[in-house]
Amino acid sequence: MKFFLDTANIAQIEEAASWGVLAGVTTNPTLYAREGGKLADFHAHIQRICAIVDGPVSAETVGLTRDEIVREGVELAALAPNVVVKVPVMVEGLAATRALFEKGIDVNMTLCFTVPQALMSARAGARYVSPFIGRFDDISEDGLEHLGNMIIALNNYDFGHPVEVIAASIRHNQHVVAASLMGADIATVPFNVLEKLVTHPLTDRGLESFLADWEKVKNS
Ligand code: E4P
Repeated sequence: MKFFLDTANIAQIEEAASWGVLAGVTTNPTLYAREGGKLADFHAHIQRICAIVDGPVSAETVGLTRDEIVREGVELAALAPNVVVKVPVMVEGLAATRALFEKGIDVNMTLCFTVPQALMSARAGARYVSPFIGRFDDISEDGLEHLGNMIIALNNYDFGHPVEVIAASIRHNQHVVAASLMGADIATVPFNVLEKLVTHPLTDRGLESFLADWEKVKNS
């Protein structure tokens, strides 16, 4: 499983990149707004992220027609070689994804909640399909079960081009653990989850006792 950071926060991206485990970043309009992002700075912000991250950086379109989405997508893709155009699953989004695919532009289809949405995204030419987990949990449905079903369905077919599943809308470690056991290619996680993925109380306790014992060695 590869780890992506789900944020538009530059400091968090720089920090995670320094750990040597960051394979990509996903952003969305909400995450950009959370950073106080302004429309005029959006492209420069994406370029800044692309320069930090050695891997795909998803930048989302906001148009509602295929023409608007394709126009935005072409502009976004021109910002940096590692930009991936993020497009919501909907009829116009599928049509735009096909058009972008035909132009050789990688698309991440987002807001994916069902097996047919996942299959149609892949058929339209999406390079990445992003099933959301946590938002199902938020409405008392089992997001992991939906994710598992989408992975099984996608693995049943050859789409003629590479398709990777990005487990998205992740809230905690167990989402990541289960997604990896199900074979999700990527987990995109908020920074606070990425930090928690590194830690375990037994690791902390073990380190504490190693250091305490080393003090004894030093003083012997
Ligand atoms: C995925 O790419 C999305 O940006 C993200 O995972 C949405 O998650 P949320 O449900 O926490 O907003």
